[in-house]
Amino acid sequence: KDGLRTERFGRSLRYQFETDSTNSWARRQAEAGEPEGTVLVAETQRQGRGRMGRAWSSTPGKGLWFSMILRPRLSAADLAGLMTLTAVSMARAIAAVTGTAPDIKWPNDILYRGRKLVGILAEMKGELDWVNYLVIGIGVNVNHEAADFPPELADRAGSLRQIAGRNFSRAELLREFLAEFERAYDDVPANGLAAVIQYAREHSATLGREVTVSQGFGRTITGMALDLAEDGSLLLRDHAGELLRLSSGELIAGAA
Ligand code: BTN
Repeated sequence: KDGLRTERFGRSLRYQFETDSTNSWARRQAEAGEPEGTVLVAETQRQGRGRMGRAWSSTPGKGLWFSMILRPRLSAADLAGLMTLTAVSMARAIAAVTGTAPDIKWPNDILYRGRKLVGILAEMKGELDWVNYLVIGIGVNVNHEAADFPPELADRAGSLRQIAGRNFSRAELLREFLAEFERAYDDVPANGLAAVIQYAREHSATLGREVTVSQGFGRTITGMALDLAEDGSLLLRDHAGELLRLSSGELIAGAA
C-alpha cells in the first residue's frame, strides 16, 4: 500500500497468491458487504474469465490481475460510460509508467500495435437505476515475453514489457491506475464523462475504420466507426447509410 495516492480505492486491498477468479472473489466480498473501493489482487487465477464467456489466461508472476468493488450512485447514462472511464484510466496509467500511450479498442480493450494488453470484465448486481454493486475486473499483461502466452494467443496478445523492452512494477502500475481511476470517477457527478470520452477518441484503435460488431446470438453489424457518443457508445454508419448507436457489443473484425 506504500505510496497509494487515493482516498478510497485500494485502501482496503486484499491479495491472494491464487484464487478462482478475482471477479468471483470480489462478488463474494461484495455480497458480504465490503464497501466501494475494495481491491482484490491475485498472482494467478484458476478460472480467469473474459468477456463473452471466454477464459482469460493469467500466467503467474507476469500480469496484474485484479478486481474492484463499486457501489455507484450514478445515473444509468453515466454507468454505461464507466467502462470507458476504466479503460481510459488504465491507458493513462500505462502511458505514465511506460512513456507510451496505448490504443483503446471499443468498448474497453487496450492494445498496442494491434496486440491486446488489457481486458476488462464488469459484472453487476442490481438494475441500471439501482445498483447494489458493480465489480470491475482488469487483466493487464505486464512482464510477459512471447513464450509466456499460450500458443493460440501468440499473434494477438502483447505486454508492457514488449512495448518498452523492460519489466515494470505491477504494484506501481496498480497505484497509478487507482489514482487515475478515483480522480476520474469522483469527477463524474459534477463534470460528467466528457474528458474521458475525449481521451478515448484521441487514442482510439476503432474510429475511422470499417468494423464488424458482434451483438451476441450470432448477430453482427458492419459499418464505418464514426465517433463515440457522450456516454461512450459507438456511432456506426452501416452499408445502407443508416446511422447506428451501439451501447455494447464486441468488435470481431476491423479494429486495430
Ligand atoms: C476480456 O477482454 O475478455 C476481459 C478479460 C478480463 C480479465 C480480468 S483478470 C482479473 C479479473 N478476473 C477475471 O476472472 N477476469 C478479470
